[in-house]
Parts: sequence; C-alpha cells; structure tokens
Amino acid sequence: MAKQRTTYVCQSCGTHRSKWEGRCSDCGEWNTFVEEKTTPDRKGWVNGRNASGAGAAGARATGGGVGMDVYNLIDTPSLDSGQRTSTGIGEVDRVLGGGLVRGSYILLGGDPGIGKSTLVMQIAGRLAGQKAKVLYVSAEESVQQTALRARRLGLKDEKVELASESSLDTIMNTALEMQPDVLIIDSIQTVFTSDVESAPGSVSQVRECAARLLNLAKTKQTSVIIIGHVTKDGSLAGPRVLEHMVDTVLAFEGDHHQQFRLLRALKNRFGATNELGVFEMAGDGLREVPNPSEFFLQERTDDRYGSAVFAAMEGTRPVLCEIQALTTTSPLPSPRRSSIGVDVQRVNMLSAVLEKHTSISLSNRDIYTNVVGGLKISEPAVDLALVAALISSDRQVPLPQRSCFLGEVGLTGEVRGASLATERVKEAVKLGFTQIYLPASNQRYLNPSDYPKATFHWIHEISQMEAKFGGGPRPAKRKAAAPPPNEDAPF
Ligand code: TYD
Ligand code: MG
Repeated sequence: MAKQRTTYVCQSCGTHRSKWEGRCSDCGEWNTFVEEKTTPDRKGWVNGRNASGAGAAGARATGGGVGMDVYNLIDTPSLDSGQRTSTGIGEVDRVLGGGLVRGSYILLGGDPGIGKSTLVMQIAGRLAGQKAKVLYVSAEESVQQTALRARRLGLKDEKVELASESSLDTIMNTALEMQPDVLIIDSIQTVFTSDVESAPGSVSQVRECAARLLNLAKTKQTSVIIIGHVTKDGSLAGPRVLEHMVDTVLAFEGDHHQQFRLLRALKNRFGATNELGVFEMAGDGLREVPNPSEFFLQERTDDRYGSAVFAAMEGTRPVLCEIQALTTTSPLPSPRRSSIGVDVQRVNMLSAVLEKHTSISLSNRDIYTNVVGGLKISEPAVDLALVAALISSDRQVPLPQRSCFLGEVGLTGEVRGASLATERVKEAVKLGFTQIYLPASNQRYLNPSDYPKATFHWIHEISQMEAKFGGGPRPAKRKAAAPPPNEDAPF
C-alpha cells in the first residue's frame, strides 16, 4: 500500500500545493484550498496529476507504451450527419449545433431546481424513442423518484434504463458492459471514485470522475451528458477542470419565479456558441418556445411610457424583446443606477451622451433599466432602444404604437449601423411592428419597398431621438442640479 500524502487543492482551479495558502497563486481566488489525502501511484501520479500538471485523461489515453493511431487528413473519418442524432427537441438541437454528436462529452450546468434533470430526462426519452440505448444514472435520487419524474413528463414506453448509483467505479463497469449510446450522469458533483480520498464534489473527485467519463466517451463512442451544479457565484464547481475536458458546456438559466428557461452553449466544439434555446416550464415538463419574440412580448402594451421594443439577435435568430426604463428624481447625492439584463455602464454612458447632446438631463435622476424576460443583452445595437425608453420615461410620453428600435450610439452622439439589420427588421415586421427606428447607415442594405407595411425612420444622431420622442410639455422644473454622480458609488 502506497503511503498517503496530504496535499492542499484549490477548489477553483485544481492547483495542488504542499502547504495551505490563503490565496491561490494560480487563479487568484481566496480561501479555496482544501486539505485532501492522496495516494501517489507507482509512477508518481497524484490522483492522476503529475508534477508538471498534465491531466489524467491525457496520461491514460497515451499511456502504456502503445502507439497512437495517426491519420492522414484526407482519410480522416469525418463528423458526417450520420454521427449527429437529433435529440427530438428542436431547441436543444439548435444549441448543440444540429443534434447530438456521437461520442461527444457534454456538461449541462445550472442552478439547483432550474430543471436540469427534467431537461435531460426529456432528451433521454426522445432519444430512447428513436431506439437509442440510454442509461440514466442518478446519484441524487432513487430509481423510483427518477421514474416518477419520467412518468410526469409523459414517458411510458420509452426504454430509458434507470439506475441510482453514486460510485463511479460501479457506473463505469456497468456502462462498459451495457455499451449505451448515451450515458447520463446526474450529477458529477455527487458521484465519486474510491481511488480518490477526498469527498464527492471536491475538485480532485470531480476531475478524476470527469476524466474517466471522458475516456469512456472517446474510446467507446458513448455520448456522455453530465449535469453540474452551479455554485453561489454562478460558476460550476471545479469549473476550469471540467470546462477544458468536455466538448460542450451548456448553461440552463431562468428565473425560478417565472416559467421560461434559456439554454445556451458556453463552449461547443461541434457548433456555434451563441445560439439560444427557449423553453417554458409547465406541469408536464419543459415545452419548446418556437417563437421567442411573441413569448417575450406577450405582456407588453403600447400605451406605457418607459418601454421600447428592441430587435435583438440571439445567435442566428432574431428575437424581439422589451427594454424598460424608469427615471425618477433622486433623493441621493449620487443617484442610483440599477440595471437588469444590460450592462449598467452602458446605461451610464448613454445618459451621459443624452446629457451632452440633447436637453435631456439625467444626472440627478435615479435610473432603473430592465430587459423583460430574463434575457441578457450585450450587443451595442440595444442603445437606441435604451435611449428611446429613457426619453419616454423621463418625459412620461409613451413611444409611438408598434415601434421597434435598433442601433448603436457612439460617444459623439452619432448612431451607428447594426449588424444583421435585415433579419431584425424582417422579424419586427412579421410580428406587426410598423414604425422601425434604425441607423441611417443601414439604409445601404435595406430596401424599404420590401416591407410595404413598415415605415422606416433613419436616425443619424441622438438629437433626432429627442426631437421625435422628447416632445410634449416639459415636466415641471426640477430641483437645482445635484452634484454629479459618484462613479465609484456602489449602485
Ligand atoms: P429539476 O429538473 O429537478 O431541477 P434540477 O435538476 O435542475 O435541480 O426541476 C425542478 C423544478 O421543476 C421543480 O421545482 C419542479 C419543476 N417541475 C415542473 O414545474 N414541471 C415538471 O414537469 C417537472 C418535472 C418539474
Ligand atoms: Mg436534478
């Protein structure tokens, strides 16, 4: 029996140290070192990691002195369509880049209770319905609990094999024997291998278990889907370790208090990463939302001030969403700025541009902005909609009926062209929007006669927005201007 050694492992990046450190010198995180007992094997590997830091999987795949298979590029087997299987759920296929690739290794992360087990069980059911051999191993719930959920989701005749097991050694033995097409592990933080002494969920355990499953995926052509829990700060436990190993990282997000759920690919070796899948959680599981624009706008009415519709792009798909703004006189010396769904710095920047280039002054106003439906918008084309919502709220005048906005605003007040304007405009017109406000420079690519029902308003600069929407009686004179907002104040 080899002698046990105590090492300290950073739970954020997996770095080993012989002494405890308050702050990891590799990843910079504080208080992440945890004592773990390890047994170096004969080759001097510590839980599959040697002093040079190479991963366990690499060591196993090429170890043993056996030569590797070398292919010429021309006769390398390609990932043809035969190796991609539709999961039977269009929104999942879209995010995966066209279906599940044989032998791929997928990590699905998300908050507890968001619906990961539900989503994966629905995928399992659809795949099994197409005669794929699916093994669903839950290390969190009993077989009865898992079966109960499956029945609630309407699965009856689908032959999904269920198991409740947390020992990865046992899972691997069964999987090697059964040779399933798809193996599902719910979750990677609750399985463990007896070769590693530390507790399930620790970085060493997660890494070792994930490395073994990687080996299974790549040598047996089994598609492996692992579920991972997200920690308080929103990252997966053992994040970097896992993200490097898997082919695809999917994030399942949403507001617990609402029905919609969003599926995104954060990393994908087999497709684009910017696609968005939209679902609705119902009593009988997750339902696809094929037209997210209608979904995100379903509760919007035209008659409220502070609300603008933005034609966003989520991957290759245009999605209309509602941008809301609320401006109120601030009682604070440094007014509050709070934003959900768009970067608060962007809102600050736009209010500064408004201050400079129009007569609208928001410097002594509290500003709240929100993207309805939990979408997170990072593209600058949202600026024009934000500006419209801000002006509308500040002047308490609703924006014109059936209006839609797109375009970026620069620091000199100029309005810059948006990418993929045609797709955005098509979607807006399809949903009945007739007043389209967009950058003048997009005129080059758009032919208004293609959209007979729509009126195009070409915007060169932000002052035009004030001229269009800042009309009506000016609100009563405000108090003397407060000192400028303190940039460093925590909002
Ligand atoms: P679950 O898939 O267990 O979440 P996770 O695996 O991410 O922890 O789903 C949990 C929630 O989903 C639970 O609060 C109940 C809800 N739910 C429904 O609303 N409808 C359903 O059909 C199912 C199965 C769950
Ligand atoms: Mg679960």
